Amino acid sequence: PGTGPLLYEGKAKRVYATDQDDLVAVEYKDDATAFNALKKAQLLGKGALNCRISALLFEHLERLGVPTHYLGLQGDHWMMVRPVRVVPVEVVVRNVAAGSLCRQMPIAAGTRLDPPLLDLYYKDDSLGDPLLSEARLERLALVTPAQMESIRDLAFRVNGALRQLFAQVGLELVDFKIELGFTSTGELVVADEISPDTCRLWNRAVSDAQERILDKDRFRQDLGGVVEAYGEVLKRVQGVCPEP
Ligand code: C5P
Repeated sequence: PGTGPLLYEGKAKRVYATDQDDLVAVEYKDDATAFNALKKAQLLGKGALNCRISALLFEHLERLGVPTHYLGLQGDHWMMVRPVRVVPVEVVVRNVAAGSLCRQMPIAAGTRLDPPLLDLYYKDDSLGDPLLSEARLERLALVTPAQMESIRDLAFRVNGALRQLFAQVGLELVDFKIELGFTSTGELVVADEISPDTCRLWNRAVSDAQERILDKDRFRQDLGGVVEAYGEVLKRVQGVCPEP
């Protein structure tokens, strides 16, 4: 599907040009990384699972009127998307305390956050994706205040949509990260991927704090069964979403 030159290689995906200006091909890799790539592994089948899960979630968002870069699937680990200028800000929405929040604030993992918390990080590996304050974001001049409002609004709409979808299949959307981008016509859309690599998902039926984890924390914490957990997420989401 990626007939043109490699445009960008990230830790888990490669983006290729195609013979059409308005179409790029994203290849989902089996590479897993954590802690800013200090920890690395190959997880056979992860790329295809994340590609299919992302596709179902993007389609769900589109059905609800949330614009995304998604256009369609090609084979089992390729996704066709609209080219976008990615805003170098990682937008995290948290419904339940976990991960870095619990390392940076005196808050117990599992504490419900109501209303959800929105955190912004500057996307820069060499700086370690630092947490941004509103003032720093303004100083960086990456987006206008009005665009920031749209980003915030989109992030909460994504949260509402996905939280409800996952709840329907017995999964708790603890938190997630999205990236946003501007299309050639200036439309702000959800880009990158939405998968167990970028979301925390807990099985609601399981109370054990480790066993309930169905996301990349299985890899981060060496819990094993990473691909199996992602497969479980796909199976559940397929149960409520029409196939692409
Ligand atoms: O690390 P932290 O707890 O802040 O992560 C919050 C959420 O954002 C988690 O779901 C995590 O998987 C996701 N994330 C991500 N990419 C990053 C940082 C966090 O997908 N670079």
